[in-house]
Amino acid sequence: MPVLPEILAFADDLTRIRRDLHAHPEIGFTEVRTSRIVAEALEAYGVEVHRGIGGTGVVGLLRGEGGPGRAIGLRADMDALPIVETTNLPFRSQTEGVSHACGHDGHTTMLLGAARYLAANRSFPGTAVFIFQPAEEGLGGARAMIGDGLFERFPLDEVYGLHNDPQIAQGEISVFPGPAMAAADFFDIRVVGSGSHAAMPQMSRDPIVAAAALVQALQSIVARNANPFESLVLSVTQVHAGSAYNVIPEDATLTGTIRGFKPEMMEVARRRMREICDGIAAAYAVEVRLELRETFDVLINHEAETGFMAEAARDVVGERSVITEPRPMMGSEDFADMLRKAPGAYARVGHAGDLPLHHPGFILDDAILPVGASLLARLVERRLAA
Ligand code: NI
Repeated sequence: MPVLPEILAFADDLTRIRRDLHAHPEIGFTEVRTSRIVAEALEAYGVEVHRGIGGTGVVGLLRGEGGPGRAIGLRADMDALPIVETTNLPFRSQTEGVSHACGHDGHTTMLLGAARYLAANRSFPGTAVFIFQPAEEGLGGARAMIGDGLFERFPLDEVYGLHNDPQIAQGEISVFPGPAMAAADFFDIRVVGSGSHAAMPQMSRDPIVAAAALVQALQSIVARNANPFESLVLSVTQVHAGSAYNVIPEDATLTGTIRGFKPEMMEVARRRMREICDGIAAAYAVEVRLELRETFDVLINHEAETGFMAEAARDVVGERSVITEPRPMMGSEDFADMLRKAPGAYARVGHAGDLPLHHPGFILDDAILPVGASLLARLVERRLAA
């Protein structure tokens, strides 16, 4: 069975919804317009809507006509990124400095497509629960929904999510058991020195020279302290300092992220970061303030539920297009937090395109929309009938 024909029949509507969301991207926890569009669409399909869960989160409940049964959750993320879009799409971002460079506009649309199909084909027993999550991009949207009682108010027997992936072929779906995506810390470092005229460096304690040394020294953690048989990444992603040609500034700020799969490797990175910051502070006579935040847990797919999701994927794209051998990624995903509350799995759905996620020119192929919607809908049908 390929993409569900009923979903294919309204694929143009999905494209229209997704392009509208794409043109109006919203950063995490500000998805006011997006969540309103989601809630209104769900209501139009006949789904019971609960708004304002974890800030801008929305939950839709669809009770089947087949009597009581289990509850299966499907989750999509809604937020965009602080990236200036460089595509020339006619529906490119109309909000300066914000864009859907991770394709969450597509995920939201796929889940709406699954909800529309299931609302029109509700002979199943039990309940489908549609979870539209805010703020996936490192701002803690999953934790906010969980903290707001998501799993107490809507008890789930299983929960599933997906992400688009231009790095796997169009029409392929990847889902495998065990660790799939890395844990991540975010860090902020403030180097505080003492400013002066640039021509009189002896009057300063230069935070720029110290920050430059710090960026280099931090790279020694993965190269020299990590076990080469384990995965660890440390990336410095922002450096800010200064305001003039002829002024040594007072301070410099750095931000970045650590990624790994094993708690002991993350701990190696954190410990060495603290030691290196202290050492650079002493060496350059500056103050170095490090703040580390444990932002993402490792995403671990549950074995049985991974099998259920792979079966639904085979229904949609065929036996040979479902990849189940492990292909863990160093990217992170806060759906990991939901998989600690209920068993489930997280799949990646391939689509045409050669620019990676988070690239300013990233383009999501609209042809993926009915594929993702069909996967989610088939999964619910299978699991509620089981
Ligand atoms: Ni994403």
